[in-house]
Amino acid sequence: MSSHATPIPMTSSACGPLTGVAQVPGDKSISHRSLILGAMCVGETTISGLLEGDDVLDTARAMRAFGAEVTDLGGGNWSVYGVGVGGFAEPEGVIDCGNSGTGVRLIMGAMATSPITATFTGDASLNGRPMARVTDPLALFGTQSVGRKGGRLPMTIVGAADPVPVRYVVPVPSAQVKSAVLLAGLNAPGQTVVIEAEATRDHTERMLAGFGAEITVEHTDEGRVITLTGQPELRAQHVDVPRDPSSAAFPVCAALIVPGSDVLVPGIGLNPTRAGLFTTLREMGADLTYENERTEGGEPVADLRARFSPDMKGIEVPPARAASMIDEYPVLSVVACFAQGQTMMRGVKELRVKESDRIDAMAKGLRANGVEVDEGPDWWAVTGLGHGKVPGGATCASQLDHRIAMSFMILGMAAKAPVSVDDGAPVTTSFPIFEPLMAQLGANVTKGAV
Ligand code: S3P
Repeated sequence: MSSHATPIPMTSSACGPLTGVAQVPGDKSISHRSLILGAMCVGETTISGLLEGDDVLDTARAMRAFGAEVTDLGGGNWSVYGVGVGGFAEPEGVIDCGNSGTGVRLIMGAMATSPITATFTGDASLNGRPMARVTDPLALFGTQSVGRKGGRLPMTIVGAADPVPVRYVVPVPSAQVKSAVLLAGLNAPGQTVVIEAEATRDHTERMLAGFGAEITVEHTDEGRVITLTGQPELRAQHVDVPRDPSSAAFPVCAALIVPGSDVLVPGIGLNPTRAGLFTTLREMGADLTYENERTEGGEPVADLRARFSPDMKGIEVPPARAASMIDEYPVLSVVACFAQGQTMMRGVKELRVKESDRIDAMAKGLRANGVEVDEGPDWWAVTGLGHGKVPGGATCASQLDHRIAMSFMILGMAAKAPVSVDDGAPVTTSFPIFEPLMAQLGANVTKGAV
């Protein structure tokens, strides 16, 4: 579990050029889904390249609690003997999903149409996040839920004994909500239809098809219409997890702002539902190239090469791109500090309900480090100071949010004075090797305050 008692401050200070190869860990979204879908097959699913961060390890534990046999074979290789669609057993204890919104929401969906009851909890961050966005559509299947005020965890879900299929228009751009409904639809008879006005990451759809479910996607005036035929027999198989573009974002952005840097980040998925940050950086004038472009496991993949880019300009990020880079706005805001002019980010109110309110967390920390930030309910803007002019020198609150902690560590690498976070421990939820990987490239990231 990622809940931790003792905060671990972390500090990052200016460094020489970052150079070398950054082998970032497996994709967090795909890692969760491989364990959950593996648990819903009969037979053995093998996984290589699984992200062994706290979030995913919590999901592995949860799948065991629901009756799957999940084994760590070492070196990122895992085996899951699933129990089949509708075969989940009732867990004996409370399911603790730690810091992971993806974990808890997808698992709620996966168990919601089985005749079992489960209680979910998490750390202080997760227990503050909205769950009604998932329990509302699950109720349409016949699932009941009781949680704390405002639909917060801890929460008990009573799975529908006689689920009915659902047609649901997702009201917020959320792959977690879409995926929860699709996973619930697996054990409902007939066709479950999910409609999203804006495309969000489509790993669940791709993986369901790969595991043998009957699933179609149509593009209509309403948006993406996803139709899943319930009660399939999912085929156990091998999943090779690609490296995470959201983790790649950190060494890439660091290389763009640290003078003289030249970093290669190999094997990164460039699925268009995930690659918005890289498009944005290139529009800002970043020296970021895609090398060795190829297709792996049906996904576009490339080696990213990022070099120091002293002449980046602030831009207006198109709101339609938000879903494809939703986790990358914090680190984009750091790059924006080193660009000339304003970077405007609109249509991003979802940032306020992530592991932290990410607009608030970044705005406070950037201002403390001498950068001007303006914000509204669903937008924020960073006024860039240009290369070599960002003061730094402050300690920022990471608010139990891994991406906030790592973003401020990237800021410290190119600011004039060191930057600290009060707690770097959350980094292990998604990027357990962040510190050694950045150190190996030449960064100065150390445990402790300034
Ligand atoms: C994720 C979806 C996104 C993202 C999260 C992972 C997923 O959340 O922020 O880190 O794996 O489905 P939302 O669905 O809430 O936008």
